[in-house]
Amino acid sequence: MAATVSPSRREPLVSQPHLRTVVVLAAGEGKRMKSALPKVLHPLLGRTLLGHVLSAAAPLEADRTVVVVGHGADQVRAHLAEIAPDAIPVLQAEQLGTGHAVRIALEAVPDATGTVVVINGDVPLLRPETVSALVHAHEQAGAAATVLAAEVPDPTGLGRIVRAADGRLEQIVEERDATPAQRAIREINAGSYAFDVVRLRDALGKLSTDNDQGEEYLTDVFGLLNSAGEPVAVHVAPDHVETLGCNDRVELAALRRLLRDRINEGWMRTGVSLLDPETTWIDVTVALDRDAVVDQNTQLRGATVVGSGAVVGPDVTLVDTVVGEGATVLRSHAVGAEVGPGASVGPYAYLRPAARLAGKAKVGTFVEVKNSEVGPGAKVPHLSYVGDATIGAKANIGAATIFVNYDGVNKSRTVVGEGAFIGCDTSLIAPVEVGAGAYVAAGSAITQDVPPGALGVTRAPQRAIEGWVARKRPGTVSAEAAERALRAAEGASSGAAAASEGEAIHGDDHALGGESRGGDTATD
Ligand code: UD1
Ligand code: MG
Repeated sequence: MAATVSPSRREPLVSQPHLRTVVVLAAGEGKRMKSALPKVLHPLLGRTLLGHVLSAAAPLEADRTVVVVGHGADQVRAHLAEIAPDAIPVLQAEQLGTGHAVRIALEAVPDATGTVVVINGDVPLLRPETVSALVHAHEQAGAAATVLAAEVPDPTGLGRIVRAADGRLEQIVEERDATPAQRAIREINAGSYAFDVVRLRDALGKLSTDNDQGEEYLTDVFGLLNSAGEPVAVHVAPDHVETLGCNDRVELAALRRLLRDRINEGWMRTGVSLLDPETTWIDVTVALDRDAVVDQNTQLRGATVVGSGAVVGPDVTLVDTVVGEGATVLRSHAVGAEVGPGASVGPYAYLRPAARLAGKAKVGTFVEVKNSEVGPGAKVPHLSYVGDATIGAKANIGAATIFVNYDGVNKSRTVVGEGAFIGCDTSLIAPVEVGAGAYVAAGSAITQDVPPGALGVTRAPQRAIEGWVARKRPGTVSAEAAERALRAAEGASSGAAAASEGEAIHGDDHALGGESRGGDTATD
């Protein structure tokens, strides 16, 4: 199916007139997260905070990307190796401030020329378009430094943009160093910047630690350059929501809701129906085709793709799962699965990795499928476990069939041929093969191959031990019911032979017991 390009995979919006270096600051601990996981590694709808920031910078096609690591450096490095193997991790052993962090980062790229873009690692809602516009404005203006700013309702804790009477940037003042008048300013530093590398290096060498935190502030670069007569600029973000940082888990949850709304709106505008956007959580990495329908309380995660006309939900979680055109998935959980076009899943199915359902296949209620192919039009409607199996086209697997794939040491495969019919409550004990068009009688434990067109049956002959209940369970509800039934039958066939005495065994000498009543062997 042709997956629609997700909103996060847009084309680069700016040309590349300059060489660029991106620096992401990710050494801080994020104390208020109260977590063993470094703050920048917390997940948010398909990417970590750091992953979101890197992807916002991706359209710049930077020559090099440097990530300053510190707290949890090993974990952050390992994550970078996965998501951005070309990025250069640089260790800031002690967090001596954002200015110090950038100074260390630039030591790793001594030959950098052109523009250096610095982004705080904790602003995951920043959009690629905004970063591109910041850099574009900076380069067009030939500024020495440009800061991304935003007007916010509550500026508490953030650096304030201090402008001169003519509107030009004078300096950036941290809240704890600000005068009461400066604290009243609601235009804040959003934590993303563009710099001319030569002038940035020069200013970083002049930073002092003469402030409330005793740190080297990157933000002081603006005041220094301004005093030296260098042009410094402010670029205002179109929406302050993009610039929201994340300091604790309450803020993280708020960011998640904001990102959810942005993603959901994007999909609805491309022609996807979301029946309840507030309870629909779609990772940025997911792709949905036009006219897909997502019903309420549904999570679509990772590399999930949903085809045109498919209906997913309510109450569905899909992780790395591909759903074909016109398929339905209802109240189910799937990880690493494929659901073919027109196939039907659930309610209450569990598809595990490498469960592959062909077109129009059906996996129904309380069915678990793992590492198996369910052929075109094949049905596994109820209460079954299908593990390590290949099920042919249009085969019918009766209720409570178990594919016994594990002997405690090894896993083995079961093959069920095209058009085969497996009776209810059957164990197919792998490795075993049921041939094309073969039947298996309900209640069988199949350990040997069943040839094509044959009936496989392992049932013991049925016995009826007459009068057993009256003798062994006298006075019970069953005994009373049996007595009434037997009396009624006697009355009806007066003169008929009396019930036999003792423990006579009426063995059913019909070895296949019930095989002639094929309709009893499976459910549909
Ligand atoms: C910073 C800005 C503030 C701005 C705010 C926006 C400074 C001095 N202040 O404040 O003006 O409004 O961001 O969110 O820059 N980091 C390091 N090494 C360090 C210190 C920080 O890598 O030594 C990283 C952190 O991991 C974080 C980023 O830099 O990703 C920003 O640091 P943080 O401590 O959050 O700065 P704020 O106080 O938020
Ligand atoms: Mg911060």
